[in-house]
Amino acid sequence: MKNIKIRKASKKDLDEILNLLYQLQRPRPKTSSEHTAFRKRIFQYLDENDKKIIVSECNSKIIGLVSIMLLPRLNRTKLELYIPELVVSEDHRGLGVGKSLIKSCVNIAKKKKCFRIRLESGNQRKDAHQFYKKIGFEQSALSYTMTIEQ
Ligand SMILES: CC(C)(COP(=O)(O)OP(=O)(O)OC[C@H]1O[C@@H](n2cnc3c(N)ncnc32)[C@H](O)[C@@H]1OP(=O)(O)O)[C@@H](O)C(=O)NCCC(=O)NCCS
Repeated sequence: MKNIKIRKASKKDLDEILNLLYQLQRPRPKTSSEHTAFRKRIFQYLDENDKKIIVSECNSKIIGLVSIMLLPRLNRTKLELYIPELVVSEDHRGLGVGKSLIKSCVNIAKKKKCFRIRLESGNQRKDAHQFYKKIGFEQSALSYTMTIEQ
């Protein structure tokens, strides 16, 4: 796809980042204090060295994003690159955008000398599972969660 740019997100991208997260079925803020909290969390990702948001831009519009955390593990000298969120806008899927965002994660992982990239994908996301398999991920674990508070 032409005119695609991959870059680090900045504060001016806030609204487009939030819109993409809603397409990932992430909750919308219910109150203004929740909106402030979400905004603060995104800015934290932009400011802290162990977190990043990378976006894909086409004609000055953000069409995809991946968020990244660099996690220290107890029994490893190297970091793990963890991906909490990956989403491509509904009208730009299947065009190579997701693959290029993952490629930028691979480049960061190599630069930071990470030992692996890891992510979780909900059971219902069958298309995403096919995508991960296609681009070289292995299904290596089951994920367990316990809800504490809604
Ligand atoms: C999953 C997602 C990120 C993939 O991004 P994308 O831009 O649509 O995927 P790409 O176009 O980069 O596809 C890369 C490769 O995977 C293949 N692929 C993508 N979806 C596929 C599917 N459902 N089944 C089989 N192959 C698939 C593509 O054909 C392509 O193969 P190629 O390299 O041989 O051409 C995107 O579809 C999305 O945002 N989905 C909704 C949100 C989501 O589920 N996010 C993941 C949360 S864990």
